[in-house]
Amino acid sequence: MANNVGSSLKKIGDKEFKLLSNYIESEVGIKLPPIKRSLLESRLQKRLKFHNIPDFSHYCDFVFESPQGVQEVIEMIDAITTNKTEFMREPGHFEFMVKVALPELVSKKNDIKLWSAACSSGQEPYNMAMFMEEFIEKNKPVRYRVDATDISKSSLAKAQKAVYNMADIDMVSLDFKKKYFLKSKSKDNPEVRIKPNIRKNVSFKPINLIKDNYDISERYDIVFCRNVLIYFNKENQYKVISRIVDQMNYGGYLFLGHSESLAGLRENLVTKEASIYRKE
Ligand SMILES: C[S@@+](CC[C@H](N)C(=O)[O-])C[C@H]1O[C@@H](n2cnc3c(N)ncnc32)[C@H](O)[C@@H]1O
Repeated sequence: MANNVGSSLKKIGDKEFKLLSNYIESEVGIKLPPIKRSLLESRLQKRLKFHNIPDFSHYCDFVFESPQGVQEVIEMIDAITTNKTEFMREPGHFEFMVKVALPELVSKKNDIKLWSAACSSGQEPYNMAMFMEEFIEKNKPVRYRVDATDISKSSLAKAQKAVYNMADIDMVSLDFKKKYFLKSKSKDNPEVRIKPNIRKNVSFKPINLIKDNYDISERYDIVFCRNVLIYFNKENQYKVISRIVDQMNYGGYLFLGHSESLAGLRENLVTKEASIYRKE
C-alpha cells in the first residue's frame, strides 16, 4: 500500500460511496442515503489511516478484493455503527417491565428469559438484570437470564468487561449504585464495574439482526430492541421484527425505542403503551 498518506481528510468519490453504502445496507441494514455521505466519509477516516491507505478507491479494493477484506469488513462495521447508549435510558420501559409485564409473566412461570437485541456496550442488558433483581427482592424469587447481542465487536468486548466511567452512572440512583456497582480504588481513573451477581445472569454474543441465522433455541418473555430499527429501511425493519417476534413466547413483551414505531409491521403484536407491545 502506498506510504504517502497525508493527514488531511480523504474525500469519498461517488462510485466509492455507492459501493460502500450499498454493501453496508445489504450486510448490516444501516441506511446510508446521499445525505449521510460525509458521515460515512468521516467514520471511515480512521480505517484508511490505520492501514495507511491513500484514498477511498484503494480502500474499496482492499475491502472487496484483498484477502484481508473479510477481516476489514468487521472493523468497518464497527466504525460505522452508532453505539450511543446509557444506563437508565427511557426509564419508563423499566417501570413498565417491573409493574406490568413481570407480575403478569411470573403469575404463569418462574423462569423468565430476556433478550437485549442490539445491546451496544452493555448498559441496557445490565439494567434489565438490575430491574429483575429489584422485582425479585420486592415480590417473589424467580430465575432469569438476559441474553445480549450486537453486531459491533468492540461494543461487545466493552460490555463483557462491564467496566464504565463514573460519569456513565450519573443517571443511576444512589441505591442502585450501592447495590449493583463496585468502585475502583484508583483515584486518578475512577471507574465502576457491574457486580458479579448481575454479571452472572447476563451473557453476550454477536448477532447481525439482518443477516445471521439467530441460532437461538430460547423463546423470550421480554425483548428490548431499542434504537436500532431507526437505522434500517422499512423492509428490513419488518424482517427483523418478524424474526424477533418468532423468538418470543405468547404473552411476551417487546420494547422498542421511543422514536420507533411498529405501525403496520406485525399483526399479532398488541400495543400496550407507546413503543411497548405484547405478543398475542
Ligand atoms: C444506538 S445503539 C442502541 C443500544 C441500546 N439498545 C440502547 O437503546 O441504548 C444501536 C446498536 O445497534 C447495533 N446494530 C446496528 N446494526 C445492527 C445489526 N444489523 N445487527 C445487530 N446490531 C446492530 C449497533 O452496533 C449499536 O450497538
